[in-house]
Amino acid sequence: MPLPGRGQLCKNEEKRNLSLGGHVGFDSLPDQLVSKSVTQGFSFNILCVGETGIGKSTLMNTLFNTTFETEEASHYENAVRLRPRTYDLQESNVHLKLTIVDAVGFGDQINKDESYRPVVDYIDMQFENYLQEELKIRRSLFNYHDTRIHVCLYFITPTGHSLKSLDLVTMKKLDSKVNIIPIIAKADTISKSELHKFKIKIMSELVSNGVQIYQFPTDDEAVAEINSVMNAHLPFAVVGSTEEVKVGNKLVRARQYPWGVVQVENESHCDFVKLREMLIRVNMEDLREQTHTRHYELYRRCKLEEMGFKDTDPDSQPFSLQETYETKRKEFLGELQKKEEEMRQMFVNKVKETESELKEKERELHEKFEHLKRIHQEEKRKVEEKRRELEEEMNAFNRRKLAVETLQSQSLQATSQQPLKKDKDKKNFFSLPSACSITSGRHVN
Ligand code: GTP
Ligand code: MG
Repeated sequence: MPLPGRGQLCKNEEKRNLSLGGHVGFDSLPDQLVSKSVTQGFSFNILCVGETGIGKSTLMNTLFNTTFETEEASHYENAVRLRPRTYDLQESNVHLKLTIVDAVGFGDQINKDESYRPVVDYIDMQFENYLQEELKIRRSLFNYHDTRIHVCLYFITPTGHSLKSLDLVTMKKLDSKVNIIPIIAKADTISKSELHKFKIKIMSELVSNGVQIYQFPTDDEAVAEINSVMNAHLPFAVVGSTEEVKVGNKLVRARQYPWGVVQVENESHCDFVKLREMLIRVNMEDLREQTHTRHYELYRRCKLEEMGFKDTDPDSQPFSLQETYETKRKEFLGELQKKEEEMRQMFVNKVKETESELKEKERELHEKFEHLKRIHQEEKRKVEEKRRELEEEMNAFNRRKLAVETLQSQSLQATSQQPLKKDKDKKNFFSLPSACSITSGRHVN
């Protein structure tokens, strides 16, 4: 009889409850976890998306009760750009590596069609970096600086009307990638009754456009009540200020106007305290967890599927990573061979083409050479003929010259023999060369 597999054994195994005879010590496990986490420190990354000058930096300073470096953005950015800044903060003995990412220039371009893209790309890039670290053979996730965005604070302009299409499009593009908490910025610029209507309008627009915003979790009994109450207050209407104003005999953070003081931490003035409670004190860990288990998981799954990895084969049978790798490898090798064959064929065709082109060129050259050779032979023949004619003329000339010389010498001899005939012969002698020169002149020409 075959032995049952390991999985089968576990399945059939019965769990029994045993009571311990005394203290063993594993009840300290939660303390061990806390101590380890505290030693390691935490990271929290906030993305602020909202128009230039909407009060992002002021709110961050107010939230963490400190002054982060701020740099006013100009309204003339060509495109949206993401600017991350990381700070090390400490409260009691807890270390927090806080990264605040600003979407600089958001909403400033005339054409805002692509405004959401740099934000989406930035979030994806942080997921990609984490995935690459996870897939490394030697990974160091323990001390890896996790830059994945845990929350996106979406700053809504306090118009009192409705959301802009840019807000809806951007939030829709982001909602599957990040926890969105919408907030109405500069809430001191809108009256109480208008604010109430504005909140209802925003929520109904988000629902009708299918935008999923972050809901504070209600599955943990300890925070279920407060979270469900807070969910009903969304979007939070906040006021930011780093200014301290004396109210009664206390210094409070507030914005002072000629007609009165807006206290940031007064819940009847704005929802700042609610935001701080929900974001930092109650749900920070849930935001981190949701980022990892929901948004990152979705990114990872899509990415691995895109790369061809699957958990099951077409028959819904479990498919291991090794098998996927082998299949992919075979597919890749097949494609490589096909490509190689195509390239080889292309090369052969190219060589044939070039060969025929070269042959054509050779034929043309040969014809040209033959033509030139014929011309050359013709020229040579003509030159040869001319040379022969000239030689004949030269011979004729030499013959005449010889005749004249003979005549001259004869006449000289005759003169010496017949002195009486001297004058007459002399006359003849001088008349001869002129006749000769006329003859030779014709030949030269
Ligand atoms: P950029 O980084 O340049 O995009 O601006 P920002 O969004 O960081 O705005 P910032 O915090 O620099 O504030 C811009 C102006 O708005 C400042 O004058 C702030 O004092 C003012 N401001 C900030 N928060 C509030 C608020 O809640 N109410 C009102 N009325 N004004 C505010
Ligand atoms: Mg700023």
